[in-house]
Amino acid sequence: MKHLKVSPASSVKGAIRVPGDKSVSHRSIMMGSLATGKTRVSNFLASADCLSTARIFKSMGVRIRRKGSDVVIVGRGLRGLTAPKGVLDAGNSGTTSRILLGLLAGQPFACRLDGDKYLRRRPMRRVTGPVRLMGAVFRGRGDASYLPIEVKGGSLRGITYRLPVASAQVKSALLLAGLYAKGATTVIEPMATRDHTERMFSMFGIPYKKKGLRVTVKGPVKPFEGRRVTVPGDISSAAFFIVAALITPSSRLVLKGVGVNPTRTGLLDVLRRMGARIRVARKKAARGGEPLADLVVESSRLKGVTVGGADVPRMIDEFPVLAVAASQAHGVTRVLDAGDLRVKESDRIEAVTAFLVKMGADIRSTRDGWVIRGPRRLKGAAVDSHGDHRIAMSAAVAGLVASGPTVIRDTENIDTSFPGFERLLRKVVKK
Ligand code: S3P
Repeated sequence: MKHLKVSPASSVKGAIRVPGDKSVSHRSIMMGSLATGKTRVSNFLASADCLSTARIFKSMGVRIRRKGSDVVIVGRGLRGLTAPKGVLDAGNSGTTSRILLGLLAGQPFACRLDGDKYLRRRPMRRVTGPVRLMGAVFRGRGDASYLPIEVKGGSLRGITYRLPVASAQVKSALLLAGLYAKGATTVIEPMATRDHTERMFSMFGIPYKKKGLRVTVKGPVKPFEGRRVTVPGDISSAAFFIVAALITPSSRLVLKGVGVNPTRTGLLDVLRRMGARIRVARKKAARGGEPLADLVVESSRLKGVTVGGADVPRMIDEFPVLAVAASQAHGVTRVLDAGDLRVKESDRIEAVTAFLVKMGADIRSTRDGWVIRGPRRLKGAAVDSHGDHRIAMSAAVAGLVASGPTVIRDTENIDTSFPGFERLLRKVVKK
């Protein structure tokens, strides 16, 4: 088992590039596989999760190969996927499994989707429920609530579905099933979630309509051609470095080429409300329709805030590291409406509480978030990642402002979203 040891930092300095966006990388493989001809993806995130997606499409007959730092996909067209020989293994990846359950429902073959022990615990009914209404057949534990799940795809019909939980994965699963369905598939979100799938549709020339929180795709769609996609830096990975620079004294860090899609920048808005000095510089549009920019972050005196409502989906993966920032902020931070954190790669509400309590923070978990009082001087401790990459990296950031060393147990999982995290951290952290 791998461990990560972090020592207290005197400052965080330099200019770095974080790896490519996980959500956009997954979608680039999926859309490239369904396109006809070549799709070339630059800055693809070669992390365990995205490689699970690539492996699955390879096993359905798609040619995917690395060319330097790019990935080239030779798509088989909307109806060109072939029946896989074995079980499709999504590893630890919620995005792979959830979106695929929609996409596989549109295929004329049956298959079986599985994942690791953590993914097997995560709820899938939020996808299988509505996709069943479109005509798909799913079989699995708890009436197809949990992996492994057998999918029998075939002829789908469009539905109008109001999402009970704000989830980009579920929205995307329904939209991809909708590409194959007869008639209109409309998804109505309770709050805006990341719109990378819609942006990919625009890029690949797939018609859809978006009006407020309603997205509609009319199927079956016409074949579409491969494209060039450039993946922006992942703001969810940048988040660890942003908070590290904010809470460590005398810091100034430049993060280059970070994706600043407004459906993903909730953390920046909340941190700014806390008093963070973060400047967005050199903003530009990327190929692939995703805006990117450089972020200049300086150590700041933070104050507590209340976070909830529409900010939650815009920063859903950033709450663990926000909690670390809040432990160093003056006053009370309240996180509300974030109950979905309990069904991420771990129960993130309890996993964060556990490591921060052990490090001496004043944090209390609630049903759907935390109450955190700061600032508290943290102390180094031995803490557990709970098999969750974002817990491991958040604890590492906390370790930078602790007295004495922090050891995070079980950190292989960092590779699911951020290969090279430790190397980059060592590069910018000054002892
Ligand atoms: C993702 C959506 C979010 C997020 C996950 C990636 C996506 O999950 O937590 O890391 O790429 O669509 P939910 O859809 O469950 O909120």
